[in-house]
Amino acid sequence: MAQYDVIIIGSGPGGYVSAIRCAQLGLKTACVEGRETLGGTCLNVGCIPSKALLHASHMLHEAEHNFAKMGLKGKSPSVDWKQMLAYKDDVIGQNTKGIEFLFKKNKVDWLKGWGSIPEAGKVKVGDVVHEAKNIIIATGSESSSLPGVEVDEKVVVTSTGALELGKVPKKMVVIGAGVIGLELGSVYSRLGSEVTVVEFLDAITPGMDGEVQKTFQRMLKKQGLKFVMGAAVQSVEAMKTKAKVHYKLRKNDTDTTLDADVVLVATGRKPYTDGLGLEGLGVTLSKRGQIETDDHWQTSVKGIYAIGDAIDGPMLAHKAEDEGMACAEVLAGKHGHVNYGVIPGVIYTHPEVSNVGATEESLKEQGRKYKVGKFSFMGNGRAKAVFAGDGFVKILADAETDRILGAHIIGPAAGDLIHEICVAMEFGASAQDLALTCHAHPTYSEAVREAALACGDGAIHA
Ligand code: FAD
Ligand code: NAI
Repeated sequence: MAQYDVIIIGSGPGGYVSAIRCAQLGLKTACVEGRETLGGTCLNVGCIPSKALLHASHMLHEAEHNFAKMGLKGKSPSVDWKQMLAYKDDVIGQNTKGIEFLFKKNKVDWLKGWGSIPEAGKVKVGDVVHEAKNIIIATGSESSSLPGVEVDEKVVVTSTGALELGKVPKKMVVIGAGVIGLELGSVYSRLGSEVTVVEFLDAITPGMDGEVQKTFQRMLKKQGLKFVMGAAVQSVEAMKTKAKVHYKLRKNDTDTTLDADVVLVATGRKPYTDGLGLEGLGVTLSKRGQIETDDHWQTSVKGIYAIGDAIDGPMLAHKAEDEGMACAEVLAGKHGHVNYGVIPGVIYTHPEVSNVGATEESLKEQGRKYKVGKFSFMGNGRAKAVFAGDGFVKILADAETDRILGAHIIGPAAGDLIHEICVAMEFGASAQDLALTCHAHPTYSEAVREAALACGDGAIHA
């Protein structure tokens, strides 16, 4: 049994990043992981595999819809599903092994097994109790289901089952028009499934900019996804290879049933803290099961910290990573900090959708005066060249000071473009600061500059 400065429970983006940073800062560090591979939800059954399938299916979509327009003629590729899954698994393997390599390089011990905390300062893995000055809980989250819906990961699946279906289903019903539903719904729609998304609310991707929501839904419909909005799913009846989804339309209480070969339940995720023994320790949880922490990620018990999906805030890998790094800094006696006002969100559909900071809706609610600079990708030469003119960049800036308050992008490379605005916001920049910065031509980034110009005297190519 070794004595550690820090033991981190969970090796997802929160846990593994924190472990590496702790070790870099000179702390003797171990990370407990019960899965067979490191990397958590994100690398094993989340961000990485979903992006691999999004990439492969997007390539097919391009071949089917855009190749001929560019003079690339010939039959579109057919789908070898087993090979596509093997490609996805290979990508997962490369990433999870990469973390193993980084642990060795940074001298982080991987304690293999499921951990619990018998008391502050102690972590039990299997039969061995390890001692640590500090413990960080980074145990992440799990899919949440609905009453009346039993998941078997074959016919009724969460995202985990959806990443390894036996075959591409003819009909898929997705419950929930959030990030998972739309990303994985897009994958199967591109691969030939008839996808119907059933959403409780009247708009997709709750919390996002209203204009983006409408544009995004229109584009997805054009790609073949069907939507039933304002529908409360009552139950799912699963047979051996088929299922029936019963829902009630909220506006008139009409009951309807949809048939499906596969039902994807994508109605959110909840913190995972099972088996840690938190009740006995007196660690306070919120009503939603999140571990409560102070500004330095310390829980109600001294020496026990928590980060990532297990605590409050957006369930995003990069938010978990930032908390992991900042918590490590705190434990090393430095000043760890996360700017929660500047955490970007990205949906990796085609086109991509991204956002950071305030929405118009939130600014109106606060009664804050703001101006909008908007630029359509139709005015961007590079976007038009790749059939990606549909979409826009929208920057929100303070009406008086011109300080950037938020941004919303739907269009090509939106997930990368948003970071220019994140950096600007970190530095308290004005829209004019962005507008005065030279942007290379022809790039998609020019659309960001044009939106910034539109906050002032006007965009050039609008
Ligand atoms: P996790 O990644 O959940 O890791 C927690 C780890 O702790 C797990 O490996 C678990 O086995 C381990 N663990 C739990 N309890 C114990 C215990 N007692 N002992 C030992 N080990 C334990 N986010 C993005 O930012 N971008 C994306 O593109 C994206 N795509 C996603 C796609 C899908 C399909 C899903 C499901 C999620 C996606 N997310 C994405 C969300 C992202 O995966 C999470 O926000 C992120 O993984 C949270 O990191 P974490 O470190 O808090 O926890
Ligand atoms: P979500 O919270 O994004 O969306 C859930 C959707 O289900 C909502 O639109 C909600 O209104 C709807 N819903 C809830 N109950 C319903 C019901 N009874 N009937 C019909 N619809 C119902 O959750 P999701 O998509 O499961 O994702 C979970 C988390 O994973 C998110 O917090 C997200 O941050 C993270 N994630 C991030 C990704 C990214 O960053 N690209 C990709 C995938 C997941």
